[in-house]
Amino acid sequence: MSRLVIVSNRVALPGESRAGGLAVALHAALEETGGMWFGWSGRIDPDRSGNVREQTEGDIRYVTLDLSQQDHDHYYNGFANRTLWPLLHFRVDLADYNRETYAGYRRVNALFAEKLAPLLRDNDLVWIHDYHLIPLAVLLREHGVRCKLGFFLHVPMPSSDLLAALPQHGRLFEGLSAHDLVGFQTGRDLERFQDYVRLFGRGRVIESGVLETGGGRLLHAGAFPISIDTGHIAHLASQSVGKASVKRLADSLSGRSLAIGVDRLDYSKGLPERFRAFERYLERHPGQLGRMTYLQIAPVSRGDVAEYRVLRNELERLAGHINGAHADPDWTPMRYVNRNYPHASLTGFYRLARVGLVTPLRDGMNLVAKEFVAAQDPDDPGVLVLSTFAGAARELEGALIVNPYDLDGVADAIAQAMDMPLAERRERWQGMMSHLQRHDIAAWRRSYLKALRAA
Ligand code: G6P
Repeated sequence: MSRLVIVSNRVALPGESRAGGLAVALHAALEETGGMWFGWSGRIDPDRSGNVREQTEGDIRYVTLDLSQQDHDHYYNGFANRTLWPLLHFRVDLADYNRETYAGYRRVNALFAEKLAPLLRDNDLVWIHDYHLIPLAVLLREHGVRCKLGFFLHVPMPSSDLLAALPQHGRLFEGLSAHDLVGFQTGRDLERFQDYVRLFGRGRVIESGVLETGGGRLLHAGAFPISIDTGHIAHLASQSVGKASVKRLADSLSGRSLAIGVDRLDYSKGLPERFRAFERYLERHPGQLGRMTYLQIAPVSRGDVAEYRVLRNELERLAGHINGAHADPDWTPMRYVNRNYPHASLTGFYRLARVGLVTPLRDGMNLVAKEFVAAQDPDDPGVLVLSTFAGAARELEGALIVNPYDLDGVADAIAQAMDMPLAERRERWQGMMSHLQRHDIAAWRRSYLKALRAA
């Protein structure tokens, strides 16, 4: 059996609870098979990049690197999160093009390659994750690495005309062809990648999923929708009823229904739009006033990046405004919390909720949507309100699918969810839950690795 080696910028080290789908999913994927997880330690070394740390827990060996302040600023805060992240989420308006940060991005990828290459064996399966590490495969090959290399993009693949706005798009995306397999979240992302290869990459699509790149290399590509550990989440949620944090939340509602949103504080998540849509709900559905409390959990993310700070200020202002305008002495319409909670509590919160609000403007998949479904009580399930621009909308057909820019539409979906009869809630939930039972994280890992072995 070949060894699985996962490479990602973010690593969930033992004992850490990380916000964000990637860390949660990769941890679940590695738990069953064991293997090595290589990435950034999450630490800044004031002196230099490249200090290697190692630890082992169960069958997982964690090898991580510290980064210097400058490398972290240029690679992570800079090119990854101020250039690629907005661009890949269709926000050309927010993308910052800067040769200095691009140089830092290449420098850190080169450092990853230098430290990882000597640890690899020829029959390893190396699985590289996300937009931080697009050039890594080329650099590993330059170090003589011969094993199978796969890539998975957790975020959306944007339209090729948008991608072409990136000055370095040619070199960067041509580099993907050093992999044996490139994976995307949905069929739409795969199609947009194929369009890019055809229109801007000087390559051709031999058949869907088999490409010849500009450099004449054969590249396999496919859609592999990421998922959750469905059984585990359902179990956690059913056990959570007795947890103190869940009880306290339930008691604090004084019999009112709960609507919940859980998102990293990120502009791709459509939070200002969601807050406004909630206000619109209060205005358009006066008959429901006072019957629901909306809890938004939004742990601060990438707080050194200017766009994220601006967003945080805007959300504070909006939450204050909505409560100021609509609260009663004994009822606050919304609660806004910037803390991160462990999974065991979150799944309990999901189970308490009548409405799950997942309304990103763009999202590769969105695992909160899937976790919300898996956490529900089968006898009395809540309703998911889900953006059509989340990858999860392609699978979760029993959700109320909304356009997050259409505030009235989101407002009406919240009201519809509140009044939805139990029989309809059950029917919608059962369809989604049985899909998630068949398509869980283990199925995702198996189908990707099978394709990578075959590529
Ligand atoms: C998204 C990205 C991941 C990232 C996560 C959390 O899910 O696709 O690559 O790890 O956000 O963001 P952070 O910057 O904290 O790692």
